[in-house]
Amino acid sequence: MKILQINASARSQGANSTRLADGITARLKAIHPAAVVELRDLARNPHPMLDEPALSALFTPADQRTPEQAARVALDDALIAKVQSADAIVIGVPMYNFGTPTQLKAWIDAIARAGVTFRYTEKGPEGLLTGKKVYLALTRGGLYRDTPADTQAVWLKTVLGFLGLTDIEFVYAEGLAMGAEAARKGLAEAEAQIEAIAG
Ligand SMILES: Cc1cc2nc3c(=O)[nH]c(=O)nc-3n(C[C@H](O)[C@H](O)[C@H](O)COP(=O)(O)O)c2cc1C
Repeated sequence: MKILQINASARSQGANSTRLADGITARLKAIHPAAVVELRDLARNPHPMLDEPALSALFTPADQRTPEQAARVALDDALIAKVQSADAIVIGVPMYNFGTPTQLKAWIDAIARAGVTFRYTEKGPEGLLTGKKVYLALTRGGLYRDTPADTQAVWLKTVLGFLGLTDIEFVYAEGLAMGAEAARKGLAEAEAQIEAIAG
């Protein structure tokens, strides 16, 4: 079993989302002791954003790319290969301004590739990253779970589902900026959700 863990917080030290993602990975390792873990910390090692040079590299046929364009596409190819080979994907995601950190958007932009991780058929789009389990550790300063303002969770479910990653378990730690007692409660609830993961 291969576990791919993505830490999306912009801080590489002291991030609650990373601590919870570490907890989920530890729980999966306890259930599957032979599991191999691959870690990508997007704070320390961010993926480049989808800018104009990246787009033009992607849309240039492989045999016509410059060495720079080939190198840029190879960075995305490497992320896609990691996701394709993973059985479980654990992502620690803080809420930033109702969305995700830019670093996670860049990672998702890189793994969404037509003809590789999704395709369009006569019946509509089809996700090609099937048969994997995804665990999302969502941390928030406020309380948004199951409210219309929680567009972050809806977007993550939609875009990951579009790629075939439909089996998603959400772990929420909310109220982390609402005082010590609220933060303690939010983290304790998340830890209880992690304890209940059946793998
Ligand atoms: C730039 C920034 C934007 C944030 N935006 C929101 C927000 O829109 N809603 C919210 O509930 N919390 C927001 N927060 C609070 C974080 O979601 C919360 O502190 C979270 O635990 C941070 O994750 P981390 O500990 O993994 O770094 C924001 C924090 C930062 C630093």
